[in-house]
Amino acid sequence: MKLIFEKSTEGRGCDLLPLCDVPITKPSEKFLRKKELHLPQVSETEISRHYTELMKRTFGINNGFYPLGSCTMKYNPKINDEIAKLPGFTEIHPLQPQSSIQGCLEVMKLAQDSLSEITGMDAIDFQPAAGAHGEFTGLKLIWAYHQDRKDSKRTKIIVPDSAHGTNPASAAMAGFSVINVPSTKEGYVDTEELRKVVGDDTAGFMLTNPNTIGMFDENILEITKIIHDAGGLNYYDGANLNAIMGIARPGDMGFDVVHLNLHKTFSTPHGGGGPGSGPVGCKELLAKYLPSPRIIFHEGAFELEQKREESIGRVKSFYGNFLVVVRALTYMLTLGGEGLRSASVNAVLNANYMQQLLKDTFDIPFAGPCMHEFVISLENLKKEKGVSALDFAKALLDYGMHPPTMYFPLIVHEALMVEPTETESKETLEAAVAVYKEVYEAAINNPEAMHLCPLNTPVGRPDEVAAARNPMIRYHF
Ligand SMILES: Cc1ncc(COP(=O)(O)O)c(C=O)c1O
Repeated sequence: MKLIFEKSTEGRGCDLLPLCDVPITKPSEKFLRKKELHLPQVSETEISRHYTELMKRTFGINNGFYPLGSCTMKYNPKINDEIAKLPGFTEIHPLQPQSSIQGCLEVMKLAQDSLSEITGMDAIDFQPAAGAHGEFTGLKLIWAYHQDRKDSKRTKIIVPDSAHGTNPASAAMAGFSVINVPSTKEGYVDTEELRKVVGDDTAGFMLTNPNTIGMFDENILEITKIIHDAGGLNYYDGANLNAIMGIARPGDMGFDVVHLNLHKTFSTPHGGGGPGSGPVGCKELLAKYLPSPRIIFHEGAFELEQKREESIGRVKSFYGNFLVVVRALTYMLTLGGEGLRSASVNAVLNANYMQQLLKDTFDIPFAGPCMHEFVISLENLKKEKGVSALDFAKALLDYGMHPPTMYFPLIVHEALMVEPTETESKETLEAAVAVYKEVYEAAINNPEAMHLCPLNTPVGRPDEVAAARNPMIRYHF
């Protein structure tokens, strides 16, 4: 396919800009461009065809099964975008008088209250713009809590090896040192090892739950008690709340802080490079340290609480990515409590169904009932036939199927992490299972051919290292 610049013909074009309705002032010399501006000169039809062609070459949830574990495009109903596009939400300014943005404040208050209810937390803050940003913010609350109590020797955060990679990174960024605890062979936190590392220097513990192998830690109550008994606080990485929404609440399990990924669970696409939102929720004992003022309903109006002395300070401008919150609230209100619960129930059901259908063919190292995702290991296939997780994923492309997440989590070798999601039908799951088994057969019988896949896609196998190190993102005229 040609690039849009290669389709350019001198003098052709289309004027889509309205005429300028303000006086035109020539900018000063230093702002004028020195080189000619190379814009593709193409007609409206050519532009439209070009981008339609590109669109056909991309793969998204509207094309087919998209089981990308951990970062999946979940159900993102279009109505939520429509609501977030309403002028009342888009044509406002954060410095407007509060009396003129009552509707927006109400949206945030309702979203805060709904997420408090879902997580079992007392306060929610929308400033963080992503999951990892939420982790950093939540950890800063833990830091502030210990400092406030003059307990400054508490500088260690305990993180299990099954945690999401951002957990230890955020702890280090927030100024803590990180202590690792291993998992048992069943995939849970090893509580014996945990007891050995807790002490009067423990600031807190971070649990990704479900963890990165898709398991709900069955010792969760024992774990949070061990930490509380030692004087530490418990942090819940709730990025994958779509596994437990409406069923279990971090606040009831002994957690003091939680972050959510609205751009995973609450209907904003994750991984598309667009804005995200990683709100932090906490128990009352930490609420005074939150970055932004709480929204309260006072004397018949919504208003922002006065600035707090103890706040850790801003982590982002104003109130975070507001329109992501609008989408999330629309999602929560349209599904309702029962709908949210059933989204989680179906996410877990679908993952378990697929896992059961695959378990006799594939090696599933932690094969207990899973939550919303499960992990396959192709380590043996790699050792015996030389076929890697990458080869397998590339072969799936030839069947028009988006591969699962590869090489994550790190504690499973040659990992494929599958998250079918709640909206897929039984037939789609069975069709995917049939393809996985067919590709596995092909890998056993003709392993050499697997290195050449995919054969039916516009791009075959790019040199991934070269593409990452020397990306060609400019057209040289
Ligand atoms: C369990 C978990 N924690 C944290 C994150 C980090 O979220 P973000 O990518 O928004 O920073 C992710 C991302 O997918 C995740 O799956």
